[in-house]
Amino acid sequence: MLGSLRWPHNIRSTYESNIPMTASKPQLLGISGSLRRSSFNTAVLASLAEAVADRVTLEIFRLNDVPLYDQDDDRDVPPPAVAVLWQAITRADGIVISSPEYNFGVSGVLKNALDWASRPRGKSKLTGKPVLTMTASTAFTGGARAQVQLSETLTAIAARVVLRPQIVIASVHEKIKEGRLADAATLDLLVAGVDDLLRDIGWTAAAIT
Ligand code: FNR
Repeated sequence: MLGSLRWPHNIRSTYESNIPMTASKPQLLGISGSLRRSSFNTAVLASLAEAVADRVTLEIFRLNDVPLYDQDDDRDVPPPAVAVLWQAITRADGIVISSPEYNFGVSGVLKNALDWASRPRGKSKLTGKPVLTMTASTAFTGGARAQVQLSETLTAIAARVVLRPQIVIASVHEKIKEGRLADAATLDLLVAGVDDLLRDIGWTAAAIT
């Protein structure tokens, strides 16, 4: 279910943002592609949430309760956990997805959640929504192949994938200490990604108004 994770504060990013502060903080939704209690991807999102907390609210959504997609349940009133997911996506100004790579693809639970988010037909909750993607893996490839697949799926849903060089976190197990991202250079890269996401959110808002 929706919930903010709390982690100790001991890492500082050296990145200094040039994005102007607005009166109300943008609301971002972080989606981890891993259900694992000690997930590195969830730890990455939690660390990022803290690093940008002065400018942005980044709430982390756990996919543990989302049922398997079933077209028999594909209707305007979906299973309760899916309704919660839809509300969280709809209310967010932008989305940050961090996924592991499983067998060269995104995790099944993430693909499942994106399938739900794309429904009912013609009412995708992600259409036009700015989405920043990242992958973290224990391999030296950092989940790069899964991230390509993720971009393709988000394109199919007509989400607005942030155009930037891929954020891949290789050998992530060596960069997480006590549930926190303990690598300042990687954290700087993530914060730069959020700034690109905020820029796209601004463009999207300007296009709508
Ligand atoms: C993996 N892992 C993996 N890593 C990778 O870079 N490429 C891959 O194809 C795979 N395949 C794969 C399959 C399965 C079934 C598992 C369980 C794992 C390693 C995986 O990325 C690593 O365990 C991550 O740390 C998992 O993410 P969380 O749970 O730590 O967020």
